Formats: sequence, C-alpha cells, structure tokens
Amino acid sequence: MYRLVKEGQTEVYAPEDNDPDVPLASASVFYNPAMEMNRDINVAVTSIYARKLAERKGFDKSQITYADAFSASGIRGLRVAKEAGISAVLNDWKEEAAALIQKNIEHNGLSESAAATCMGADKLLRGRNFAIVDIDPFGTPAPFLDSAVASASFFLGVTATDTAPLCGAHLKSGMRKYAAVPLNNEFHSEMGLRILISSIARAASKFDKGIRPLFSHATRHYVRVYAEILNGAGHADKTLKELGFIAWCPQCRNSETKNGLAVFMNEECPVCSGKRKMSGPLWLGAFKDVDFCNEVISELEALPLNKKGEAVKLLTVCRDEADIPFFYDQHLLCEMLKISAPPMEPFLEGLRKAGYIATRTHFSGTSFKTNASVEACLEILKRQ
Ligand SMILES: C[S@@+](CC[C@H](N)C(=O)[O-])C[C@H]1O[C@@H](n2cnc3c(N)ncnc32)[C@H](O)[C@@H]1O
Ligand SMILES: [Zn+2]
Repeated sequence: MYRLVKEGQTEVYAPEDNDPDVPLASASVFYNPAMEMNRDINVAVTSIYARKLAERKGFDKSQITYADAFSASGIRGLRVAKEAGISAVLNDWKEEAAALIQKNIEHNGLSESAAATCMGADKLLRGRNFAIVDIDPFGTPAPFLDSAVASASFFLGVTATDTAPLCGAHLKSGMRKYAAVPLNNEFHSEMGLRILISSIARAASKFDKGIRPLFSHATRHYVRVYAEILNGAGHADKTLKELGFIAWCPQCRNSETKNGLAVFMNEECPVCSGKRKMSGPLWLGAFKDVDFCNEVISELEALPLNKKGEAVKLLTVCRDEADIPFFYDQHLLCEMLKISAPPMEPFLEGLRKAGYIATRTHFSGTSFKTNASVEACLEILKRQ
C-alpha cells in the first residue's frame, strides 16, 4: 500500500503510485511528486532563514519551531526537520495521514525533533506560536491566512493552487476568496501572485504585523510566497503602503499603477483613449530580495537535491527580473505591429541602450519587464 520515496536526504513512506483514474487529492494520503522542486526550494529557504534567525536571536537552531500545518505524508516538514535541522510539528486532520506521519518520523529517526498532530490547521495555529509557519492546503489558502499570520512569529510560507480564481479565470470565486479584482490578461500569473501577497499583507495587518516577501514565484499550477513577518503596527502600516491598483488598457496594453487603498484613476487610457480596466488591491512592492535569492542559490548548489538544476534556474531568473509590477508579452506587441517577434536578448539590449530597465521574467518566456511605455517598446520593436 505504501512505497518508500526519497527527496533530498529524507526518505518517507508515501502511497503507492496513484491510480490515474483517482484524482491525487482523493488518495488515502496525498503525495505529489511534481512538488519536489517546491519542497527542495522550501528546504533551502528555511535553512537560510533559520540560520540567520538563530544568529540574530542567539538561539540554537533546534529551538526554532516550524509548523507544517497541512502535512499529508509529512514529507515537507520532515525534510525541514532533517535537512534544515529545526524542530517541526507535522499536522493533518486526516487520521490516516497522521498515522503515516508518525511512521515516517520513526523511519527517519526524528522522534526528538518532529511530532505528529491530528487536528484542523486553524486549531493548531490558533493554539500556539511557531517561528515559521507553512500552509500548503488543497486549493486556496485564503481561509487559513488569518490563523497562519497570527501564529507565525518570524516567517511564513504559503502555497496556493487555486490559480483560476487568483488569476481572474474564475472571477467571482477569486473576488470572494481574496477580496480583490483580478485581470485575466497576458500577465494573469503575476496578477495571481500579487493578489495572494496583497491578501497575506491585509491578513497580517489585522494582527499589527507587516510582511516582507523574500522570495515568491508562480510555477505551472501553483503560486508560492515566502515572507518574513515583521512585528508591530509601524511595520503593518508600512506594508499596507505597498498595496495599490493597476489601470490597464486592453486596446493598446498601456498600464499605470497607483499605491493606496482608496485611489482615483481615470478610466480613459492616456495613450489611445480606450477604456481601461481596473484591478486590485494588489501587492505593488518587490516580491523577492536579491541578497536572499543569492543565498538560496548557494544553499541549493551545496545540497544533494534531485531538482537542483530546475530550482537554481528559477531562482536565478526571479533574482534578475526587475522589481516592476507586470510585463509586456513581446509576441502580443509584435502581433499589434504585424511583424514577427525578434530574438529577446537583442531586443532587451535595444531597450537598455535607449535608457530603460529591461529584463526577462520568470512568469513567461515570451515576456519582458521594463519601465518603458508601450509606445517606446513598439518603437524599438519596429527598429529590430
Ligand atoms: C496539498 S496536501 C499537503 C501536501 C504536503 N504539504 C506536501 O508537501 O506533500 C493538503 C493536506 O491537508 C490536509 N487538510 C485539508 N484541510 C485541512 C485542514 N483544514 N486542517 C488540517 N489538514 C487539512 C489534507 O488531508 C491533505 O493531506
Ligand atoms: Zn490604450
């Protein structure tokens, strides 16, 4: 019924290869091999953060507590306990999962540093504080954000797999879950990430906490955010200043962002006079920290990981992409001009030579981030 799987330096019992006719989420205990890179990055991120925290606070690393509130087989929290050397509570409300977690704790000889619990995630998180909290539920994390930020003293990891509501494909569901209006256009994946961070920031502010995203990404069917928790009303106020809105023109693709929770933006596009669409509240600040990304890359390089190559590539593109909200899809701009798309690098170089910031983005291989207006981009494309 169970087989042994190895990720990083941790071996766990996981359900036998799933029947293709049974959705993963309906398996007796959930294990998704496709999330191994996510867990590899989680180990590296947590190791770095725990090391820094231990230094800053004068703790021993083993005193740092980690809540894997939606644990399933226990793989995520067990890897953190074993590979990052901190103490973890691995929780799942399913009894079968909690029993498997216990078996996996024993299999890894982690009875000293890891413990299994079986309860609703809210109950676990409302009951006590953890230095680091991870929430990885099925679908949306929205109903659990309040208890997660209330519990997390220093750091929070959040996965969202409800990309259709987050990105505007299921508009009403997204509005209900995140109290934000998304845009379902070429930058929908970044939209999803910025709506999720906005929602985490608003949850944190209720507890007089601020957040600082250290690394975030949108990969295939999910969005993942790693944020430092900053305690105090001053940090909460500062965090809320990073929220705002975008006005985007579907005719000419020009956009404008404005920080604030009550902003006025003209519906008329200043470039083509078309009717702009409004979206928000969104996180308009940086969603990664360059120094932190560099440290995670070094950690990934040093660890024995199956998905190292993929993870380092993702971290590198994220590190290098400009901290500018949203992007242009080069192919869409070329369609507007009725020309074929030129190679990306010389085009970006053209933008830089004209004095603009221009980088690739991890959200889409055919897209780029720049502070140039859409008109400037079109002019440079025409010259390629
Ligand atoms: C996506 S899986 C977690 C996967 C795991 N973190 C990993 O990396 O392999 C979600 C798990 O959360 C459990 N779950 C769902 N709702 C829960 C709740 N409200 N409280 C606690 N556990 C819950 C499910 O039984 C399932 O095992
Ligand atoms: Zn326009």
